[in-house]
Amino acid sequence: MRWDKQQPTWRQARPALIAEALKRAQARPSGNWYAVGASREVRADRPLSATVAGQELVVWRTADGRPVAGPGICPHLGAPLADSPVRCGTLVCHWHGLALDGGPFAGWEPLPVHDDGVLVWVRLDQVGGEPPTPAPVVPPRPQLSRSVAAVYTGVGICEPEDVVANRLDPWHGAWFHPYSFVDLTVVGTPVAEGAGEDGFTVDVSFKVAGRFVVPVRAVFTTPGPRTVLMRITEGEGRGSVVETHATPLGPDELGRPRTAVVEAVVASYARKRLRRGPRGGPRGAPPDEGRGGAVKKATTWPTPNAAGCCGPRDASPADRTPDAKDRVAQFSGSGRRRRRGDR
Ligand code: FES
Repeated sequence: MRWDKQQPTWRQARPALIAEALKRAQARPSGNWYAVGASREVRADRPLSATVAGQELVVWRTADGRPVAGPGICPHLGAPLADSPVRCGTLVCHWHGLALDGGPFAGWEPLPVHDDGVLVWVRLDQVGGEPPTPAPVVPPRPQLSRSVAAVYTGVGICEPEDVVANRLDPWHGAWFHPYSFVDLTVVGTPVAEGAGEDGFTVDVSFKVAGRFVVPVRAVFTTPGPRTVLMRITEGEGRGSVVETHATPLGPDELGRPRTAVVEAVVASYARKRLRRGPRGGPRGAPPDEGRGGAVKKATTWPTPNAAGCCGPRDASPADRTPDAKDRVAQFSGSGRRRRRGDR
C-alpha cells in the first residue's frame, strides 16, 4: 500500500491523553538507574564506554564475570579509560599503567551497576536526585532461556521525555513507520473501559518480509520515568516485550539535548512458523505451513559457566542468541529523524 493511501491514524491522536500518561510516568521512581547498553557489550577484555548526562563512564567485567562501572577518566592524568584494556579483570590505563580492579583508588570511585541479563544499568545518584534503590525497575520478561533477545541503541536530538511521549503515541505507528507496521488500530487508552489503569492497547501487524506479517495485540505501559514497555498480549509471540529506555547523554556541540534510546527486545515464540497474508492483503490467511513461510525458531541456551582469569568468558544469554543483532546507530536530525524523539 502506498504511504499516502494509508489510514491517517495520526489524526486520532490524543495529545492531552499522552501528556497525562507522560506525567504519570515521570512521577514513578527510577532509583537513579540508567540503562547504558546491552549486557553482552560488557566484556572482560575491554570496557564499554557510556555517557550519562555528560558524565563519561566505563563498564567492564571482573575475572569472575561481575560487572564494574566507574568514571571514564583516569585519576592519574585524565586518560580516557574507554581506550584502555582489561587484563584479568583489572582495567589498566594505556597511558602509564594505573590499574583499577573495580575498587576505589586514588579518587576513582566505582558506581553501582546492575546486569539484568539483557541490559546493563548504572546508578548515578547525583544525576537522578531521587532516593536511590538497590536495583532498577526491570519489567517482567519472557524466560530468557526460551526467547531471543536483541538490543538496539540509537541517539536522538531530544530530551528523554520526548522519547517517552513518542512511545506513548500509538497512533503514529503505522503512519510514520509503514515499513514496520500495518493495520494499526488503537483499541484501548488509559481512560477507556477495560484498558487497564495506564495502558494504550493496540491491534497491529508487524511486517516481517514481503507479505509476511505478524498480527498482534500489544499494550504500552510506563514502569519508570524513562521507560516504555510494549508487551504483546495476544497473537504470535504472546508475552514478548519491547522495552524502550531513554538515557540522557547531555548536550551536543550546538547545545542541543541528546538522548540514547536503548531498546531491548525479548521475543518468545510458541510456534515456529509465522503467518503469511493473502495476495493483495497482509493478514487473515491461514498458517502457511510448509510453503516457505518465515521461520522463527525458539532457542534454548546452555547454562552459564564461571569465567577463568583472562580465559574465554561465557557469554551472557543475549550473546548466545543466534538471531540477536546489536546495531549501534547514531544519527542527527537531518533526513533520518522525522519528529522529536522519533526514530
Ligand atoms: S593517565 Fe592513566 S596512568 Fe597516567
